[in-house]
Amino acid sequence: MSDLFDLQGDVAVVIGATGVLGGAIAEGLARHGAKVAVLGRNADRGGARVQAIEAAGGKAAFFAADAVNRESLVAANGAIEKSLGPVTVLVNAAGGNDPKVTVTPDNPVENIAIADWHANFDLNLVGGVLLPCQVFGPAMCGRGRGSIINIASVSAHLPLSRVMTYSAAKAAVLNLTSFLAREWATKGVRVNTITPGFFPAEQNRRLLFKDDGSPTPRAQQILGHTPMGRMGEAKELVGAAVYLASHAASSFVTGTDLRVDGGFLSQTI
Ligand SMILES: NC(=O)c1ccc[n+]([C@@H]2O[C@H](COP(=O)([O-])OP(=O)(O)OC[C@H]3O[C@@H](n4cnc5c(N)ncnc54)[C@H](OP(=O)(O)O)[C@@H]3O)[C@@H](O)[C@H]2O)c1
Repeated sequence: MSDLFDLQGDVAVVIGATGVLGGAIAEGLARHGAKVAVLGRNADRGGARVQAIEAAGGKAAFFAADAVNRESLVAANGAIEKSLGPVTVLVNAAGGNDPKVTVTPDNPVENIAIADWHANFDLNLVGGVLLPCQVFGPAMCGRGRGSIINIASVSAHLPLSRVMTYSAAKAAVLNLTSFLAREWATKGVRVNTITPGFFPAEQNRRLLFKDDGSPTPRAQQILGHTPMGRMGEAKELVGAAVYLASHAASSFVTGTDLRVDGGFLSQTI
């Protein structure tokens, strides 16, 4: 393996590694030598992820944590330091849309309850980025070494129809990433985003596929707008994550957004 992408000596926390995209990233970082802390709320899926990493020869452990709860993140941080060592990489991959804040003809903009807006903002921005950075960032700054990777969305750039709250929160993820990149630039901590295009996962399955597995009209629209004409596979995010995690490969890269979207954001019509 090239030294440029060698993560031996790194301890990577992946929040949302119980999910599809975070899971693929966790497995990829482990394949490149990082010890991986699988974080999420679902212990069954977390355990399965750890098993998959270990079966491939990697090292991982599951830590139950709720990204929107500071105490649970602080507890996880302490447990990770004890069992895997000081954290050097943080991947923030918890998030998703919530049907309650999806704008439809039956649920127009003016009907969206502010409490539901706040809950989705809390997941995607506060738990999705801010709280984990507050909990894991200072120790990385103190040691002068760290890479934080936040997962944005194409909807952060120009909003997709229907997902009003999610889009606004993900736009804020880009902005907050730039802020933190500047704030911690001289402290050895780099902060970047990956913007995934469309990848079948749990939180969007019903949006993309009918019961018989065929694409919904919305999925067809998405495919029509994607120059590569297909959706991504989660493993196609690994290269971007390993690059941004590796200090050797991306030592002068901070505040950037790396698009892995099949060209989705490169065209209008
Ligand atoms: N799939 C796509 O096409 C796509 C495109 C652009 C961006 N994204 C973003 O990529 C990230 C991963 O999504 P995914 O598509 O992989 O969906 P997913 O399979 O549903 O995974 C999302 C994960 O987030 C975790 N999560 C949710 N709330 C949490 C909380 N309060 N605390 C801790 N973990 C929490 C869940 O883990 P637990 O249930 O174990 O807590 C779940 O495993 C999200 O930020 C999503 O917005 C996805």
